[in-house]
Order: sequence, then C-alpha cells, then structure tokens
Amino acid sequence: MQKYLTCALTWVDARFPLTSNWKAHLSEYYAPKNFNFWYYFGSLAMLVLVLQIVTGVLLTMHYKPDAALAFASVEYIMRDVPWGWLVRYMHSTGASMFFVVVYLHMFRGLLYGSYRNPRELIWLFGVAIFLCLMGEAFFGYLLPWGQMSFWGAQVIINLFTSIPFIGPDVSLWLRGDFMVSDATLNRFFAFHVIALPLVLLGLVAAHIIALHEVGSNNPDGIEIKKNKDPVTHIPLDGIPFHPYYTVKDIMGVAMFLIVFSAVLFFAPEMGGYFLEANNFIPADALKTPPHIAPVWYFTPYYSILRAVPPLFSSQFPGVVAMGLSVVAFAFLPWIDRSPVKSIRYRGVQYKSWLAVFVVSFLILGYLGTVPTTVWGTFDKALPLVGGVDRANVFARIFTLLYFLFFALMPWYSKIDKTKPVPERVTG
Ligand code: HEM
Repeated sequence: MQKYLTCALTWVDARFPLTSNWKAHLSEYYAPKNFNFWYYFGSLAMLVLVLQIVTGVLLTMHYKPDAALAFASVEYIMRDVPWGWLVRYMHSTGASMFFVVVYLHMFRGLLYGSYRNPRELIWLFGVAIFLCLMGEAFFGYLLPWGQMSFWGAQVIINLFTSIPFIGPDVSLWLRGDFMVSDATLNRFFAFHVIALPLVLLGLVAAHIIALHEVGSNNPDGIEIKKNKDPVTHIPLDGIPFHPYYTVKDIMGVAMFLIVFSAVLFFAPEMGGYFLEANNFIPADALKTPPHIAPVWYFTPYYSILRAVPPLFSSQFPGVVAMGLSVVAFAFLPWIDRSPVKSIRYRGVQYKSWLAVFVVSFLILGYLGTVPTTVWGTFDKALPLVGGVDRANVFARIFTLLYFLFFALMPWYSKIDKTKPVPERVTG
C-alpha cells in the first residue's frame, strides 16, 4: 500500500508542487513556540469564512432575490426546507461570530504590535478584509427583506447623499432606484453572493501569503528569524506548524464549535442582538420602525456617526468620522513609535490608552443600540451646533477618546517607559 502511495505522490509531485508546498507552509514552516490563546482567532476566522460560504451556497438554492418573494422564501427555508432552519441559523449566527472572531484577532494585533515592521502589509490586507467583511454583512442584511433590512439599507444609503456635490447621484446609483426596491435587492444579492466573497477570498489569500513571507509575530514581539541554528538555519525559537499548531488549532476549533452550537441551538436570536425582532416583519416602505439600529457589530461606528453634529444641516462630518474610525486602523504601523512591539514590554502609557480605547469601543457599541435620548437630551448642556437638538454627551466623549487613541499614539508610544526585551522568547 505504502509503495503505491509513494508512487502516486511522486507522480503528482512531478506535475504539481504538493510535497514542496506541504513542507514550505506546514511541516517545515517554523512558527514561534510561544503562541497563546490569542493566536486561535486567525484559523477560526478561516473556519467561519468556509462555514459562511458553505451555508450561503445552500441558502441560495432556496432563497428568491425578488422583493415580492424574498421574505416568504426565508420563511420557507425556516419552516419547510429540510434542515433549512439549521442552515439559516448557522449563517446568521456565523455572521455575528465572524465579527467576534475578527475583533479578537485584531485586538491581538494591538496587544502584540503585530502590525509593526515587517508585517505592515499583513495588517493592511487585514484592514481591507475588515472593510470587505463590513460590506458583505451590510449587503447580506437586506436579503431577508424584513423591516430592519429595508430601513437599515435606507439609512445607510441615504448617508451617501450628504457627500458634497455628488452625494445624491451616488446614493441613487447605489440604490438603483429612488427608494430601496427590487432593483436594490437584486444588486445587493449579486454583491453578497459573488462579488464580495471573491474579493474576500483573494484578500485572505494575500493576507496568508504575506504572513508566510515574513513569519508570525508572537506574544514577546521578538523576531525568531534573528536567532537561527548556525547549521540547520532553523529558528531556535520555532517549531514546525504541523503537527504542533495544527493540533493546537483543532483544540481551538473544538472550543469554538461548543460556543457556536450553544448560540445556534439555544439562543439563535441572541436576545435580538444577532437577529432583530423587527426583521421578522416584512419590509414596509410606508411604516418606519420607531427605532432603527444596526446589528451589534456596527453599533460603535453608528454611535460615532450620531455623535458628530451636522454642519450646515449636513450629516457629512458624521459620515467622515465614521469612515475615519475604521480607516484609522490602517495608520497604526506608522503612528506607533514605540521601540518595543509587545504589550509585555510596553509602559503604562500604551497600556492605559489601549484600555481607554477598548472601553470606548464597548461603550460606543452599547450606545449605538439605544436611542440617543435614552438618558435624556442634553439640549441645554451643550451648545447647539448647526441645529443639533439631541446630542448624546456620552457618545461624544467616547468618540473623542476613541480618536485620541490613534491621534496621540505618535506621542505617547514614544515617551512610554518600556522594559528591556529579552533575546529569546520567554514562553
Ligand atoms: C476573514 C478574516 C481573516 C482571516 C481568515 C485571517 C486569517 C489569519 C491567519 C490564519 C493568521 C495566522 C494565525 C494567527 O496569527 O492567528 C493571521 C494573522 C494575522 N492577521 Fe488575520 N485574518 C483575518 C482578518 C484580519 C484582520 C481584519 C486583521 C487586521 C485588521 C488581521 C491582521 C492580522 C495580523 C497582523 C496577523 C499576524 C499576527 C501575528 O503574527 O502576530 N487579520 N490572519
């Protein structure tokens, strides 16, 4: 048997670089030996990506991208298609879990300075993936054609109207009609099922290729390639990715699937955070829901949008701030001036600012789920700027802190009192 397998492999290797790629990317790809919990999320993001594609293909077999049929086709999937409910809930839960995993994956980058030289491109591909993922989630959300799908799309597309000069034309072009309609649903379907998934797959491939070019960072922020065995040229602090990290990642997958199944089988709506009650009502262009809020993973940015007051009655400053709050991540490799990468060797400055950033992000996330008037209006406390009458003072404070994390980074990362970095990884 062994003889035949070796024969088959030799035949394949003569025509396709199977063994050499296996070695280069798995069995002889040396990763730092001190990966910890935070290093599970890259492989988990890949798992969720595959899960979303597989369940998405199955959903597409029964879904109807037609404004007159879409809502009913989703109900049909949920009630009549064998196992349709499972596939639909896997896809809707998967969308939220994708953001959970990607947010934790990005946070790891902030902890260990993974965006720093020489990993700037890995990070930039990551930011592009993140933007693409946001688009993917936004387009997908219109497809069930519920009240929130319809009005969410209406609100977001209308934001483009505020762009000076070209705004109204841009939003008309995006919508394909004067209101969100069948034309909008059709183009969003095209973007969601084919255009963006293709871009996403391409970007993930670029992300991994860039990663394998320079190698992974690690919790100590030390470059393991600087300490190689003089004879074998293998990094002294490296271990082969396979079998060590394939086994570790399987453990992460098992833990993830337990959490994923718990949500899927016991709380697929997650108290309205993963699937909103209003979206079980068919879209109605004549009935605006009293409170329109995006899904939880967009609420920090939505808060920033609402926190920035209009200028000359235009929402444009808020739209710019919202865009900047995401694009700001792309600048991290160049605004971080610390001599060390990992939080382990940083001083109190970076640690405090990172804490401020995380708290601001979470509070903004919460504020985005509630109406701006929830703790009363602040009309009297704040000066009226361009006709704002319901400023949420908290959202403004945390928006400011969110941006200060980035804006002041060149300064605080430089003056921070860092600790000496050891020569070799510490485990
Ligand atoms: C579909 C989404 C994504 C997938 C499938 C993905 C996949 C991966 C994988 C498999 C790794 C190596 C394993 C690990 O270090 O955890 C990795 C590393 C990395 N990713 Fe991602 N990623 C995604 C999104 C992002 C995003 C949004 C960012 C940042 C904006 C990002 C930044 C990074 C960085 C900086 C590394 C290197 C980390 C280090 O070496 O410490 N990734 N990614």
